[in-house]
Amino acid sequence: MKGFIKKLPKAELHLHIEGSFEPELMFTIADRNKIKIKYQSVDELKAAYNFNNLQEFLDVYYAGASVLLKEEDFFDLTMSYFRKINGQNVIHTEIMFDPQTHTERGIDFSVVISGITAAQDQAQKDFGISSKLIMSFLRHLDAQAADDTLQQSLEFKNLITAVGLDSSELGNPPSKFKEVFAAAKKVGYLAVAHAGEEGPADYVWEAINLLKVNRIDHGNNALADAKLVETLVKNKMALTVCPLSNVKLRNVDRIENHPIKLMLEKGLVATVNSDDPAYFGGYLNENYQAVAEALNLSKEDLYQLSLNSFHAAFLEAEEKAELVGKLDKFYAENRD
Ligand code: HPA
Ligand code: ZN
Repeated sequence: MKGFIKKLPKAELHLHIEGSFEPELMFTIADRNKIKIKYQSVDELKAAYNFNNLQEFLDVYYAGASVLLKEEDFFDLTMSYFRKINGQNVIHTEIMFDPQTHTERGIDFSVVISGITAAQDQAQKDFGISSKLIMSFLRHLDAQAADDTLQQSLEFKNLITAVGLDSSELGNPPSKFKEVFAAAKKVGYLAVAHAGEEGPADYVWEAINLLKVNRIDHGNNALADAKLVETLVKNKMALTVCPLSNVKLRNVDRIENHPIKLMLEKGLVATVNSDDPAYFGGYLNENYQAVAEALNLSKEDLYQLSLNSFHAAFLEAEEKAELVGKLDKFYAENRD
């Protein structure tokens, strides 16, 4: 199955670019920016990647991102992610970034977005990988800060496809951001939100009803509410599920108990994603591989997961059809 997964054309829809910051690159950029990080070596840093919950991870993730200062830093970070996925047959990706993680440290919004989008352009040219950008608001900060970020983004509106909502979920329900999301939708952004990762099914309802999201990031805890599952199925609302992340952050006790197969059986539009691959032990193929092995997924299941990723992507119908064409051709030649 490993060879099948490797060659399977696929899309990634839930990826935090700051979470693709590999330790080696972190040290390189810290050195060139003359910033001292609190770990002495790559090994010591990696040893800190042992999390009991989302917050413990976020503390390490924000510390890592703090060495990013210049446009070339954001370019190198993003290019490093594209190089990884180019070797994995990821043909389309939708990248989240957290502007506030950087603007709060005095880095200009334009520095962040210029570096990331320059890498997107290069990846399209060099690797033929198409991509979109999702601007995520940090939910542990207040709604006014999210609105300030929305205003800053307007100058770059043509570079951004959607807004998102990430960071500490518990105690920061989607309802807190109802007005900002309405304003974002009004100017033409699509919307996603992390919901039901650590938070309850109610947060998923809020993301749908109050934020009017087009997809749910994670959504695992929706399974506790039969009416919600029915609504998600009926509306073909995609879930961007992140298997290795769920185990690393202890939202699922072991990969053998991951609910993604159950989600498919219930008719949910589940997709596989890596979330923060540098921290959680793998990029997209490692996530596919982990669930394929642990849950005994068939080639048909894997095809369905990849097909879901194209259907749920923020692409025009013709663009989707072209990518699904690549997937279908591969599947026809490799299904037996
Ligand atoms: N959950 C919430 N916020 C995040 C995550 C996550 O997995 N990764 C980066 N920000
Ligand atoms: Zn995430």
